[in-house]
Amino acid sequence: MAGPRVAVLASGRGSNLGALLAAEARGMLGASVALVVSDRAEAPALDRARAAGRPAIAIDAGSSPSRVSPEAEGRLLALFAEHRIELVALAGFMRIVGPAILDAFPERVLNIHPSLLPAFRGLDAQRRAWEHGVRFAGCTAHLVTAGVDEGPIILQAAVLVLRTDTPESLAERILVEEHRIYPIAVRLVAEGRIRMEKRRVVIDDAGADWLALA
Ligand code: GRF
Repeated sequence: MAGPRVAVLASGRGSNLGALLAAEARGMLGASVALVVSDRAEAPALDRARAAGRPAIAIDAGSSPSRVSPEAEGRLLALFAEHRIELVALAGFMRIVGPAILDAFPERVLNIHPSLLPAFRGLDAQRRAWEHGVRFAGCTAHLVTAGVDEGPIILQAAVLVLRTDTPESLAERILVEEHRIYPIAVRLVAEGRIRMEKRRVVIDDAGADWLALA
């Protein structure tokens, strides 16, 4: 397994985890998924990780449904150290990770969000975009900062909203794009190809033919 060791944090079905694993299997991730952690013991993402032979661990993330407790952050950091994690990818993780993890992994925590940020931060973004009547929706792979869905944008993909769309059909097409761009964003970070100019992410594409896929 080549490249930095990635921990994936997921709360649910884990389709983005699946896309990262598939990209790794094709030699396209530039990293290896070395650990999967969930705040829900019954999350299908954990089954998916186990099926791929990866360490899959459920943690008690604390009593707040929207945040990781300081104790759980400590537990996560211990797990990351134990598994020699260098990069963290949130993939449908439903809690805000706190400063201890962000400080330990500066510009090394990524997220995938199902809207064209900065529009429609937070939960149920696809439905809210559809209800708002946008003509383009999409997804954003970004670095994680303290503000929810506010971090610097690495990649985005736009999806045309069709007259016949429902929130569900729109979300499905956005998900296809999530699965396409998230592995590419992870690879850009894993290969050290991004640098910050104020809040803009600048991508070094030298010799990266595979970036044409983005
Ligand atoms: C995705 O839509 C992702 O953008 C959002 O949560 C959902 C997770 O889906 N953050 P999955 O668990 O990866 O299938």
